[in-house]
Amino acid sequence: MINYAIRPEQSGDEAAIHDLVRRAFEPMWFSDGSEPDLVDALRAAGDLALSLVAVTAQGGVIGHIGFSPVTIDQRECGWFQMAPVSVLPELQLKGIGSALIAAGIAAMRRVGARGVAVVGNPAYYERFGFRTIPGLSPLADHDAQYFRAQDFDAAPPSGVLRYAPAFG
Ligand SMILES: CC(C)(COP(=O)(O)OP(=O)(O)OC[C@H]1O[C@@H](n2cnc3c(N)ncnc32)[C@H](O)[C@@H]1OP(=O)(O)O)[C@@H](O)C(=O)NCCC(=O)NCCS
Repeated sequence: MINYAIRPEQSGDEAAIHDLVRRAFEPMWFSDGSEPDLVDALRAAGDLALSLVAVTAQGGVIGHIGFSPVTIDQRECGWFQMAPVSVLPELQLKGIGSALIAAGIAAMRRVGARGVAVVGNPAYYERFGFRTIPGLSPLADHDAQYFRAQDFDAAPPSGVLRYAPAFG
């Protein structure tokens, strides 16, 4: 078992996060290698609304999750995109990603977010309460089949969800 803690990103973590995200996505067939730069661009734009790291007792960054604001039908509405999620390849499948996702969702609820969307393997993300919401769709058609969301309100929104500009 690995001992680690989850905490918000601090000043000085940036390079370690960049390196971790690079290493996590490098082996993935669907990755174009843009994920580490995406995190940097979100941060630079002030759009990294929540950035959590998993760190070992020695301070090594072994996991990361980021959340950024989205619009629905071009309105800011308290919704966020959960991306990217990264765990060091040699430490994957040990529950670190799940712990980051759970901590991230709990933190977003605490700060009053109204919902979170994700693009990824539905078999994985549906474990955390993500589902299809009728009438809520991503801007890009190619994301549609991997797009899931969870609303924290009684009334789920509908419309076209657009990610932060750093996503391109
Ligand atoms: C996806 C990722 C963050 C998950 O973190 P993790 O710590 O490895 O995952 P956990 O240990 O919490 O969860 C493991 C479980 O989820 C499943 N799982 C993990 N990643 C999965 C994926 N991408 N698709 C489907 N299932 C996945 C595992 O099969 C395992 O299932 P089990 O509990 O039935 O054995 C991590 O694997 C990673 O960094 N991958 C590379 C980057 C990436 O693909 N990020 C997500 C982009 S959408």
